[in-house]
Amino acid sequence: MAEKIEAPDALELLHQYRTRSQQGGGEERIAKQKADGKMTARERIELFLDPDSFHELDAFMMHRVHDFGMDAPDKMVVGDSVVTGWGTVNGRLVYIYSQDFTVIGGSLSEAHAQKIVKVMDLALKNGAPVIGLNDSGGARIQEGVLSLAGYADIFLRNVLSSGVVPQISVIMGPCAGGAVYSPALTDFVIMVKDTSYMFVTGPDVVKAVTKEDVTKEELGGASTHASKSGVAHIAAENEEDALFLVQELLSYLPQNNMEDPPFEPTRDDPLRTDEQLNAIVPDNPNKPYDIKEVIRLVVDDGRFFEVHEHFAANIVVGFARMGGHSIGIIANQPAVLAGVLDIKASEKAARFVRMCDGFNIPIVTFVDVPGFMPGVDQEHNGIIRAGAKLLYAYCEATVPKVTVITRKSYGGAYCVMSSKHIRGDLNLAWPSAEIAVMGPDGAVEIIFRRELAAAFKAGGQEAMLAKKAELVADYRAKFANPYVSASFGYIDDVIIPSETRPRLINALEMLSNKRDENPPRKHGNIPL
Ligand code: HXC
Repeated sequence: MAEKIEAPDALELLHQYRTRSQQGGGEERIAKQKADGKMTARERIELFLDPDSFHELDAFMMHRVHDFGMDAPDKMVVGDSVVTGWGTVNGRLVYIYSQDFTVIGGSLSEAHAQKIVKVMDLALKNGAPVIGLNDSGGARIQEGVLSLAGYADIFLRNVLSSGVVPQISVIMGPCAGGAVYSPALTDFVIMVKDTSYMFVTGPDVVKAVTKEDVTKEELGGASTHASKSGVAHIAAENEEDALFLVQELLSYLPQNNMEDPPFEPTRDDPLRTDEQLNAIVPDNPNKPYDIKEVIRLVVDDGRFFEVHEHFAANIVVGFARMGGHSIGIIANQPAVLAGVLDIKASEKAARFVRMCDGFNIPIVTFVDVPGFMPGVDQEHNGIIRAGAKLLYAYCEATVPKVTVITRKSYGGAYCVMSSKHIRGDLNLAWPSAEIAVMGPDGAVEIIFRRELAAAFKAGGQEAMLAKKAELVADYRAKFANPYVSASFGYIDDVIIPSETRPRLINALEMLSNKRDENPPRKHGNIPL
């Protein structure tokens, strides 16, 4: 009699599959991952999400290309090289994918891409953020065009999701070649210092093509991208720090473009005034001060979540709350390059304005700007194009826009920095505000050239300087104040600096039901 073959118990089989799926690339590779100072894909998810909230998708999916030895048992990993699913962060739904470097270097196979595409589609349909934890050797070489197709499928979804659901990328290992373009298309990129890097071509190719010697860290490490290229919004100290920062970042964002950001009650009195603000702007108009001090004194609990802190530090952008409501802040920084608008600052701020507008986050702008940056380099590299981006972004934004001019607001930069003319809803000025076509020195030299030349001819350098000082004083008295602008209604009110917090909270409340729109069109043509 033939021996009866026992089918494995169904639950036992499920257990076996689940166990295999949980094991990633196996003990040895996991040990290497840890030795490299990195967590595993699953540990990252565990740490990031609320306890026990993770629901995995496609844990049993496997790659389908078996050429080049890819059918070897150690390559046939259940779940392949990415862990995907959904869970909650502070009780709010998020979709997540976490690339598993221990499985074939986290390389992106057709299956890997399909898993990511599935969570992205769910996120878009259900209106919740997508968090991508990136740690991958890039396109799986053995899969050829299938892998490239997978990337393109992801890129398309990055773009279709843009402005609909927040997308946040955390780079926790390699991210090279065309793979960089998925994070680059998302709203925020957070890189981990020392263990992550991003570049289109690595140091070897750079050396071969341009003969430049550069390390991976110098070329595309977290500090490089957070300060030089602006690709990274934040360089986190380590993986834990990166994940906590994403949790905090999410707290300022809505789930999608149809919702408002969450309200967070505060004990900080909305009517709180602060006398320090009355003394913060130095009497000497050319002396710097730190605009971040102003921001901290004004917002709820002094908490300012800055993004792009080390990139174009002459403009400051970030999130805060006022009266419990999330706001985006854009502020010229007089402490760096006198707060001038250059190419990088314009692009940094433009992107932030558009992100806030896309996600219904009111914009508060602090203005102290001497104008646009002069120079051959700036002109040749496109300060005209870059400045136009910021102008475009502010003009287009329909969220509540409240502006406070603390000191200088000169020239084109006056128009650009959320002026009344480009739909600023409430434009306030401190008594120290100076609104003019240009600063007194430059203006006097142009409009009184003849008078100055005559003074020089009559009494030499000293007489000319005395005449200039007199003309500058006249000019200051006429233009270096907010009252000319206020007389035209271009400044809605001149406020005492110490009252900035209550005035801003009141303005934001007054604007909380604001409805405004742009003319119907397929899309505008922002000067990219
Ligand atoms: C297939 C890959 C892989 C890849 C790594 N592995 N990257 N397998 N396709 N892209 C495998 C390795 O063969 C190795 O398998 C295992 O993953 C771990 O990799 P190691 O090299 O041992 O790790 P490490 O020394 O830490 O180096 C990591 C690395 C390196 C720097 C990422 O693996 C590397 O250079 N990989 C290739 C990177 C690359 O050029 N990718 C293509 C980029 S272009 P075994 O079994 O030997 O342990 C791209 C195009 C996207 O991505 C296009 C979008 C439009």
